[in-house]
Amino acid sequence: MGNWKLNGSKTMVADLIKALKAPATECPAVAVAVCPPVLFLGQAQTLLADSSIALGAQDADLNSEGAFTGENSAIMYTEFDVQYVLVGHSERRTLHNEADATVAAKFAAVQRAGLTPVLCIGETDAQFEANDTQAVVQRQLQAVIDHCGIEAFNNAVIAYEPVWAIGTGKTATPEIAQNVHAAIRTFLAGLDAAIAAKIQILYGGSVKGASAAGLFAMADIDGALVGGAALIADEFAAIIRAGA
Ligand code: G3P
Repeated sequence: MGNWKLNGSKTMVADLIKALKAPATECPAVAVAVCPPVLFLGQAQTLLADSSIALGAQDADLNSEGAFTGENSAIMYTEFDVQYVLVGHSERRTLHNEADATVAAKFAAVQRAGLTPVLCIGETDAQFEANDTQAVVQRQLQAVIDHCGIEAFNNAVIAYEPVWAIGTGKTATPEIAQNVHAAIRTFLAGLDAAIAAKIQILYGGSVKGASAAGLFAMADIDGALVGGAALIADEFAAIIRAGA
């Protein structure tokens, strides 16, 4: 899944999507999705109409409509064939002060709209150094479980993104990532074994074409949420192929 963040132009959207259709077609077993800025959802919807590549959004307001200037509603995304919506990305949690409860409410709003939330969780560098990683991700998961119930994870994706690996070039080693992914799955299994076994857990944080295969070889890493490399067709194509 490519999170384009605040990047794009009409030309870039057209060129990048055109370049990704071939690797996506070559790897039919790999679920590919792109999350452009909302301004390009209409263009992306049209360009993706003949492709298996899914469309995602990067955030959604916890309200469906009303006096919320500047916000974007999950229910409105359905008019653009959006399937996935990121919630709780660390850049939203930090730059927009989104608390766990807010993320949980956004998760619920995305599901009310019939879309699949991609719940982003992960620890900061300080929390990693303090060995607080598992406590942090469990706290972030618990907030959604408290608000929506464990059954809500029947229609969700989790993205574990250590903040210290995002945009830094410091990819977590496959072993470090696997340990956290396994702990997430074990935590969920304590509440619902079937959900824990089925849920897709993506890794995000400086994933590149060269590092993807080692990550995907891990038992509990089901894919990647990619930032910078998603903006480079050859890099993202290499990540897609690594998942085949
Ligand atoms: O949501 C994915 C993003 O946070 C990862 O960014 O640039 O480290 O791949 P990047």
